[in-house]
Amino acid sequence: DKGNHRHFMEKEIYEQPEVISHALSHYVDFAENTISTNAAAIDFKAASGLAISACGTAYLAGLVGKYWFERYARLPVEIDVASEFRYREMPLSPSQAALFISQSGETADTLASLRYCRENGLKIGAVVNVRESTIARESDAIFPIMAGPEIGVASTKAFTCQLAVLASLAIGAGKARGTVSADEERALVRHLAEMPRIMSRVLNLIQPQMESLSRELSKCKDVLYLGRGTSFPLAMEGALKLKEISYIHAEGYAAGELKHGPIALIDENMPVIVIAPFDRFFEKTVSNMQEVAARGGRIIFITDEAGAAASKLPTMATIILPVVDEIIAPMIFSLPIQLLAYHTAVFMGTDVDQPRNLAKSVTVE
Ligand code: M6R
Repeated sequence: DKGNHRHFMEKEIYEQPEVISHALSHYVDFAENTISTNAAAIDFKAASGLAISACGTAYLAGLVGKYWFERYARLPVEIDVASEFRYREMPLSPSQAALFISQSGETADTLASLRYCRENGLKIGAVVNVRESTIARESDAIFPIMAGPEIGVASTKAFTCQLAVLASLAIGAGKARGTVSADEERALVRHLAEMPRIMSRVLNLIQPQMESLSRELSKCKDVLYLGRGTSFPLAMEGALKLKEISYIHAEGYAAGELKHGPIALIDENMPVIVIAPFDRFFEKTVSNMQEVAARGGRIIFITDEAGAAASKLPTMATIILPVVDEIIAPMIFSLPIQLLAYHTAVFMGTDVDQPRNLAKSVTVE
């Protein structure tokens, strides 16, 4: 049932404040402001490293998770798309832990990666939406994302719930490993707790602007997304979402890679969507934006109030989000990315919930 929404995808985008709050309540003790993951089967404290494997959007959630596990838990992360992971013959040690991220829990390559890790003696954690799935069944620990059924082929609420769970797990791992203090834990959990409310506010705030911008995007043949830090996987997720449902060619790049190739593409016909909260990478990303502007590129700047005040560059559009802590920024900044892809596809008249050539669950190799 789509309720008042035109598509399941739209419904699922707007469900995010509610489902994120479910997901968090599974991992967070809001009375004490602590993380309470029941991850006994996986010993993050003793782990020498973490291997993550997944496909598509779930892989991009894992890539954001890598930044978090390394930063907050000082745990080295090996991550790859599952179709490569399963055949790379990478040396693994039973002292590493492994995480498999899958909305459906049935993705063939992710399952094969899981079995490869099991053969190598690693303890297995599954970050899944479907708790009765094969990937969940074959794991030592299940970390449910609690997103509820996701019908739209383009993943939206599963992505942000995967992020919420990975953030909680990374903080929990940091606590176990002594790299996140009790004070830091409380502060981080307070930020997580604020997220559902901020998401609702942002969804209402940006909707009209996303709709009008999508008219512009629908005229384009190519779009480039740029970001640094956790905004780099978001840039790739933005590009994936746009190409999946609007069939516009899009690429996501680390902003620092611009001058190693993609800058050659810049002209007035290819909008560049820059994702840059006012974080420690902001200045660097703005200098990449300058390089785009100097070559006549048109910029759609997704930033926050502090970033908008700090940059004086002319843009085609600036999307201004509230200033939030960096632990929740990837979830908040996912919202304009999702809505922009959604409205562009609606405007172009594609089959948003069932895009051509795609299946919701990829159970064959
Ligand atoms: O069910 P899974 O999370 O394992 O699926 C992985 C990908 O097939 C999936 O995320 C795909 O990339 C989506 N269509 C992205 O919107």
